[in-house]
Amino acid sequence: METEFNIESFDIKLDTNVIGRNFIYSEEVDSTNSTLLNKSFGNINGTTLLAEKQTKGRGRKDRQWYSARGQNLTFSILLTDKKYFNKNFNLINFAAALAVAMSIENLYQLKIELKWPNDVLIGGKKVAGVLIESSSKGDKLERVVIGIGFNVNQTSFQGNFNLPPSSLKIEVGQSIEREMLLAEFLNVFEEILENVVDNPAWILREWKERCRMLGEKISITEDDKVKYGIFDDIDDDGFLILKTEKGLEKIYYGDVSLV
Ligand code: BTN
Repeated sequence: METEFNIESFDIKLDTNVIGRNFIYSEEVDSTNSTLLNKSFGNINGTTLLAEKQTKGRGRKDRQWYSARGQNLTFSILLTDKKYFNKNFNLINFAAALAVAMSIENLYQLKIELKWPNDVLIGGKKVAGVLIESSSKGDKLERVVIGIGFNVNQTSFQGNFNLPPSSLKIEVGQSIEREMLLAEFLNVFEEILENVVDNPAWILREWKERCRMLGEKISITEDDKVKYGIFDDIDDDGFLILKTEKGLEKIYYGDVSLV
């Protein structure tokens, strides 16, 4: 069921200094990520754009991200503060997925699983995904946009999915207040984001604690190539280390499955 997003009740619960302080609510955009990547949208660090409907919502690998109008949380956060953009840029992805996990844990005490590189699962089903995109000038990053697709109150899903989808409403067994969840996410995310600069090891440790595939036999599909091995570790930059007969191999992207 569609509900109206109440900006006032969201604002009361928002407890951040920067993230989400410039908050933009939109009925419909093509994609919140594309919109915030566009310079004409301003460059205030922490700007958060929530859309009730995306006509061209995107997932990783140019997959479509479909989300029913007014039921979920599809939003993006703009980062322009360069302190986050050094060598640990990839960690922002982990920080975002971890913030989704921790916000659900704080509010609903559910057990969350994180799947490399950016999926949030409950009971093996995907409830949220993260898509990070950036724009550069020359070789300098200018804007980083963190897009989150969070299945909140949607209870039926049509289409083909890489992972079976679910939503918080299905998993908790009751309708979820989107305002409280978004505020909690942004509160947690702002705190975690500081660790990207100050304590990246903490982010990776917390992320790994929620990754069920570590140490397991996995396959990794990269375009049409499949690799097999043991999920040995995540390195300091957030890349997957695969143990194969030939030794350790660093994996930069791909879809991971248990075998
Ligand atoms: C994935 O799991 O592949 C990532 C999904 C990310 C979807 C979100 S919805 C808000 C933001 N805008 C987009 O176009 N995509 C992201």
